[in-house]
Amino acid sequence: GKVLLAYSGGLDTSCILVWLIEQGYEVLAYMANVGQEEDFEAAREKALKVGATKVFIEDLRRELVEELVIPTIQANAVYETVYLLGTSVARPVIARSQVAIAQQEGCTHVSHGCTGKGNDQVRFELAYYALDPNLKVVAPWRIPEFYERFPGRNALLAYAAEKNIPVSQTPSKPWSTDENLFHISYEAGILEDPNTTPPRDMWKLTVDPEDAPNTPERITITFKAGKPVRVTNEADGTDVTDPLDLFLYLNTVARRNGVGRIDIVENRFIGIKSRGCYETPAALCCALLTLTSRVRAYRDEHITPVFGKMMYNGLYFSPEGDLLTKMVPLTQVDVNGSVRVKLYKGSLTMEGRWSETEKLYDMEESSMDVQGGFEPTDSDGFIKIQSIRLKKWGAKVKEQSKN
Ligand code: ARG
Ligand code: SIN
Repeated sequence: GKVLLAYSGGLDTSCILVWLIEQGYEVLAYMANVGQEEDFEAAREKALKVGATKVFIEDLRRELVEELVIPTIQANAVYETVYLLGTSVARPVIARSQVAIAQQEGCTHVSHGCTGKGNDQVRFELAYYALDPNLKVVAPWRIPEFYERFPGRNALLAYAAEKNIPVSQTPSKPWSTDENLFHISYEAGILEDPNTTPPRDMWKLTVDPEDAPNTPERITITFKAGKPVRVTNEADGTDVTDPLDLFLYLNTVARRNGVGRIDIVENRFIGIKSRGCYETPAALCCALLTLTSRVRAYRDEHITPVFGKMMYNGLYFSPEGDLLTKMVPLTQVDVNGSVRVKLYKGSLTMEGRWSETEKLYDMEESSMDVQGGFEPTDSDGFIKIQSIRLKKWGAKVKEQSKN
């Protein structure tokens, strides 16, 4: 049969490509440009050299931002209260385009290089099956003939030498990364010991906050229906409105101020704990801003936690994924306004906000110095009613303390 392999140009997927040919497949290679730093043309040459019959390189950056990143920000989705889901949000667009090409090329199979222990295998495969139930998946890292033959990096290198697979001259880093325009992740290798401090030179998308400039930078982000639509920075003359450019600019400004690093231990979907370091510079600037009271409370209680889990667990293409992505924009219709943000040595502070269309916040109403709207005596009844059950509870506690 014909198989479309998600190819990265690295050692693992190059060996997988050749191994699949050895198993009798015709192999087509597929690469997604989601904004990672990558020499796509070199990877294309390499895939063809080792035996791919065709190579596809798809630019998915805009759909990643518009369709996945922005709704995830609108949902305020974070996994286990800190991880901004940078890898998770890219998987749906990557899988969808891989399925479309597989169908167009008449492939019966799709393949990937994910390990058998992680989240990504689950995310890719659930997406493949949801989008084309007839596709078959080849996951070599879960096939005994493959993983027993390649128990470690040396076995892959030996195979590469034997099969004339070019190996990059730069020694590979002692951790694994996943990068896109939203984030980079670092896991495995020396990071597996959660008590190992990441080396200073691991971090790639942000400067060390200790080395960031001693003077703060200030930007203004404008939201329309909860979507970031404009970023300005008077100091460097920036004024961007295109969603993709806006993200790329936020990355630049957050990067030079050391904003967006975390180092965590998380729980994978399959039940394993894992230590990961992440840099998410632009996203941190947009996340956690905004909203109106009841709708906000509803979103925070009912949408935020499930949206994060849905995304993390690879269920974007599912009935609940569909429902949640339709609901999120409805919580955001009133989010129109701007925030002034200060970036300084790894921190992000909101210095002010205003709304162009909304009058939910009324300065007069909230003022401690202005009377009006309602009588101060009206608050008597409000407090009385609120205290009914508290008085009962207080009396009970008092009674119990006597015994
Ligand atoms: N732990 C993160 C997640 O599950 C990052 C995964 C990184 N994936 C990778 N293939 N290196 O979203
Ligand atoms: C992998 O297993 O390929 C990376 C880790 C993950 O998916 O969680």
